[in-house]
Amino acid sequence: MASGGLATNGATVTTEERRVRSPRPRVASEMKRPLQRAHINSAALAKAGRSKIEWAEGQMPVLLQIRSRVARTKPLKGIRLACCLHVTTETAHLMLTLNAAGAQVALCASNPLSTQDDIAASLVKDFGLSVYAIHGEDRETYYEHIQAVLAMGPHVTMDDGADLVSTIHKDPARFGRDVLGGTEETTTGVIRLKSLDAQGKLRYPVIAVNDADTKHLFDNRYGTGQSTIDGILRATNRLIAGSVFVISGYGWCGKGLAQRARGMGAHVIVTEVDPVKALEAVMDGFEVVRLAEAAPRGDIFVTVTGCSQVLTPAHFARMKDGAIVANSGHFDVEIDMPGLKRLARRCRRVRGEIDQYVLRSGRCINVLGEGRLVNLACAEGHPPGVMDMSFANQALACEYLVREGSRLQPHVYPVPPEIDREIARLKLTALGVSVDRLTPHQQQYLSSWELGT
Ligand SMILES: NC(=O)c1ccc[n+]([C@@H]2O[C@H](COP(=O)([O-])OP(=O)(O)OC[C@H]3O[C@@H](n4cnc5c(N)ncnc54)[C@H](O)[C@@H]3O)[C@@H](O)[C@H]2O)c1
Repeated sequence: MASGGLATNGATVTTEERRVRSPRPRVASEMKRPLQRAHINSAALAKAGRSKIEWAEGQMPVLLQIRSRVARTKPLKGIRLACCLHVTTETAHLMLTLNAAGAQVALCASNPLSTQDDIAASLVKDFGLSVYAIHGEDRETYYEHIQAVLAMGPHVTMDDGADLVSTIHKDPARFGRDVLGGTEETTTGVIRLKSLDAQGKLRYPVIAVNDADTKHLFDNRYGTGQSTIDGILRATNRLIAGSVFVISGYGWCGKGLAQRARGMGAHVIVTEVDPVKALEAVMDGFEVVRLAEAAPRGDIFVTVTGCSQVLTPAHFARMKDGAIVANSGHFDVEIDMPGLKRLARRCRRVRGEIDQYVLRSGRCINVLGEGRLVNLACAEGHPPGVMDMSFANQALACEYLVREGSRLQPHVYPVPPEIDREIARLKLTALGVSVDRLTPHQQQYLSSWELGT
């Protein structure tokens, strides 16, 4: 095992935690019991989870290097860290890094369908961390888990979608007294935070990890591009080649997805609301039309906009029989599921994560992963090779907040550019790639204005 790698702390698991739960508990009352240090599906899954965590380690060299350093220097010693992230293999490595840095970590899920129960089990049983996450938990349990994590009285919050921040801001006296700062992983979370900031209501500084170049250029583009296709394939086993693949949203995620779908032989249609992004899609060689025009042509539809009610009953009514509909945006609001249910005569689960809605017209619409992030609901989310950089940003942003947070005002801040560059440098080194350096002459040329034609 690589240095700075896995190390158990030998913490015991309570009897509560050992209780084997039904695989997809959905009724909150079934789960009503005092929340312990952890609330997971089954500690018996830990062995499988640990194998996955070990497998991912080889793909996360940047985070492992950071872990190795902070395990010696302990920059987060005494820090209580509340995390609301997708409970996946890669997140396990972030938790182990933060824990190695001296932080007391508590983790809950940032989506009810993204939790990998075996990973949650390993974090609790093998590493003694507090985890509150069960795959398929209902809405009430989801928020109980957020509150359980916040009950630690965090100094730092780490969010993917801003659910910790929004819960704290609804009851700051209860949850927010000791918070010195937070970090945010995704585009939608940053939008929510900027809205709080613009209203003058943000109570503490938050670092927008999503906006770091070494995050969105790679995670949103290559991570979402690959893992969204992965989710669709695992759920449907459909041939992509020759299909008409409609993507709503040509932002960082959408353009990564469009590239990959084209690479697999699909005819890709893009729909947009921003004329600049639409023009970029046209120049990248994609067909751009209004969604209403794409609706009767598409075989596979994916929303990835961060917006709500993108696919509506007006579109469903025009879709082909057997159309596949998925979402890869953060919240399950991009596909109008209540609207689809109103149009449908009946619905049945036809396979793993596919719900088939039979419309009154007799045509079927197949929805993947209940309209939640398809790459996490139907697959394992982004591969570790890309989360290596996203979570290196999280770890270093957290360290920066603890060091500098008291000097920051309650606003949304970018990741300091030196952190971004350091992560890119470390990743290149790990990939065995070298880059040139500017000569003194070039440096002077680039910083002067006198030289012209
Ligand atoms: N699935 C994942 O693992 C994953 C990873 C990263 C980000 N995300 C989420 O994906 C979403 C998109 O993220 P991004 O980084 O690409 O954002 P982005 O801001 O770069 O792109 C979003 C694009 O959608 C377009 N758009 C907005 N409303 C639209 C509508 N009604 N119809 C068509 N296009 C519309 C915008 O003009 C923009 O170009 C966010 O919710 C983000 O949090 C998901």
